[in-house]
Amino acid sequence: MAGHFITFEGGEGAGKSTQIARLKSFLESRGKTVVVTREPGGSPGAEKIRQLLLSGEARDLGPRGEAMLFAAARADHVDTTIKPALTRGDWVLCDRYADSTRVYQGEAGVDGAYLKLLETAAVAGVYPDLTLLIDVPAEIGLSRVAVRSKTDDSGGPDRFEGEAMKVHQRRRKMFLELAREEAHRFAVIDGSKDLDQVEGAIQEAVLETFPEDLQGISKAGTVTEAAS
Ligand SMILES: Nc1ncnc2c1ncn2[C@@H]1O[C@H](COP(=O)(O)OP(=O)(O)OP(=O)(O)O)[C@@H](O)[C@H]1O
Ligand SMILES: [Mg+2]
Repeated sequence: MAGHFITFEGGEGAGKSTQIARLKSFLESRGKTVVVTREPGGSPGAEKIRQLLLSGEARDLGPRGEAMLFAAARADHVDTTIKPALTRGDWVLCDRYADSTRVYQGEAGVDGAYLKLLETAAVAGVYPDLTLLIDVPAEIGLSRVAVRSKTDDSGGPDRFEGEAMKVHQRRRKMFLELAREEAHRFAVIDGSKDLDQVEGAIQEAVLETFPEDLQGISKAGTVTEAAS
């Protein structure tokens, strides 16, 4: 497909949403058309399923059933949002994708082979060109989320935020293992640095992954000789 597909992964409070907004501005200021989307959700059908998943209502289904709901949401998201955008040649920035299912539902005890089957069906061949794993110690991420809950209207922690520290630590480890196993598409970003440093590291990874598309654009945003 003509477009570019970048996914953002990491635990709660890692800085995914913040950095997606920054990367969007960076790409748009260079004339790119950017679609920002998120999981679970990202399309009208999938947003309905998101409510069930994040409120905890779907918990009665058990981890296997929940994983199926994530897959159903993803299939709709891929078909109605991601694939059309990539076909148009847009840049798609997605807040969580299949790796989050591998980690969150995997950590919850769902069999890896079963998750793989669901993933294959849901993504229908649409895999990210680049996955930015924003890595932070669980304590840092959760303390950021705690501050955020007090200062915005997010309504306090959702079903996945309100879990024990040990669980968050295991997920962090699983994300890092995934990044090692599929190093060809992952860039691990140190999310404990300040916002501008994280932004810079992300731009560097994007420029490295798509050199032809962003040729002549340096990390600082200045146009180099070659492009002028
Ligand atoms: N590098 C950073 N340094 C300090 N604060 C940060 C940094 N990155 C993000 N924050 C702050 O931490 C909070 C969480 O960031 P953000 O919402 O971007 O995280 P997230 O990964 O999208 O979290 P979630 O998984 O809960 O959606 C926000 O208030 C944000 O301003
Ligand atoms: Mg977020």
